Amino acid sequence: MKIKKDVIVIGAGAAGMMCAIEAGKRGRSVMLLDHASKLAEKIRISGGGRCNFTNRHTRPENFLSHNPHFCRSALARFTPQNFITLVEKHGIHYHEKKLGQLFCDSSSQQIIDLLRHECDAAGVEWQMPCRVNNISRIHAGTAPGRFMLETDRGILMADSLVIATGGLSIPQIGASPFGYRVAGQFGITVTPLQPALVPLTFAQGQLASSVAGLPGVAIDAAVSCNGACFRENLLLTHRGLSGPAILQISSYWQPGIPIHINLLPDLDAAAWLLDHRHSTGLLSKLITQYLPRRFAQAWCDDIMRDQPAQPINRYSETGLRQIAAQLHNWQITPSGTAGYKKAEVTLGGVDTRELSSKTMEARKIPGLYFIGEVVDVTGHLGGFNFQWAWASGHAAGQFV
Ligand code: FDA
Repeated sequence: MKIKKDVIVIGAGAAGMMCAIEAGKRGRSVMLLDHASKLAEKIRISGGGRCNFTNRHTRPENFLSHNPHFCRSALARFTPQNFITLVEKHGIHYHEKKLGQLFCDSSSQQIIDLLRHECDAAGVEWQMPCRVNNISRIHAGTAPGRFMLETDRGILMADSLVIATGGLSIPQIGASPFGYRVAGQFGITVTPLQPALVPLTFAQGQLASSVAGLPGVAIDAAVSCNGACFRENLLLTHRGLSGPAILQISSYWQPGIPIHINLLPDLDAAAWLLDHRHSTGLLSKLITQYLPRRFAQAWCDDIMRDQPAQPINRYSETGLRQIAAQLHNWQITPSGTAGYKKAEVTLGGVDTRELSSKTMEARKIPGLYFIGEVVDVTGHLGGFNFQWAWASGHAAGQFV
């Protein structure tokens, strides 16, 4: 079998389907292929099964990239409102959970159905499951030639080839390094990759072992690292720290450096402790006014490892000021992350200096496009990664 199309999109996830829809609407013949047998598993599991499909407050500042300006153009041409309009056209009910994050009321399957219907309306054809064994380019004289894909469904040819195979997170549902390998094959740089939006882990004895032994405890904290700061919940787990504040900061963390946790972001802890300096109560007891009881006890045990617990009135003013400083800046160094099995996204990807920010086309390989998470554009937690997938897919869809 030998099939020829104007456009082949590899990866039928969020970005790939959006690109196929836009290209199909322009009258291009489009084939969308994916090695998975089930469509868009990552959308299905997203947002706890309700898909946080966009964020109303999307701004370029919500994305990490070696070139922070790269995402501007695509985001400006396909906004959260554009996707909301599509959601409303399909009668999908949604709600804002917090901070501009929009979720389906019912199920993320509705977003998959929306994309599937739009693909059908745009005349997109499918090959699923389909494994691509080799990609080559057939040169026709001096003109850039067609792409030829050798697949387990036969030979597929196209003038434009779009790589939308996503990142490395959750390999159990089909993530693969395919996109990065294609980039490498065509001499396109890929920036260093690491799991992001991921829980942080601690070696024995690093994070206070006592603190680590309190899975399920949640604290409203401000967590900072490498110039970024997020005020959200922090969750203690068996292996370390998780929760939105930690997932957010994990994208900024590099091995070997500490994260800084402000446990009392709304309080002047020094003034508060000094107000109580004549108290005969234990420090851990006082701290429970603001922090969960089990955590307060374990935290005090940890930071005052060498000193037995004593009433507050036994501390000097300097001692109380030091404890206040620790409450505002508890420094701990993770030993690692929970890895791609738990990460929501991959940080890094196809180097944006290699791509046109208008079309997503590779500068040195005309006809080859990269969109979505495979590109070195990584969103914060809260619907930004889908917004990038829609926007970059939409951008490429206008030009393929
Ligand atoms: P995506 O991963 O969606 O699609 C890639 C496709 O390529 C897949 O269908 C895969 O099977 C296919 N593929 C891979 N290798 C292939 C190969 N070799 N051959 C053929 N096909 C191949 N974001 C957000 O904004 N809001 C949210 O609520 C969440 N929630 C969330 C939860 C969890 C648990 C995870 C893991 C991630 C999220 N995300 C998220 C992130 C979001 O899911 C992610 O950024 C987008 O799905 C990326 O879209 P892409 O289309 O680029 O890749």
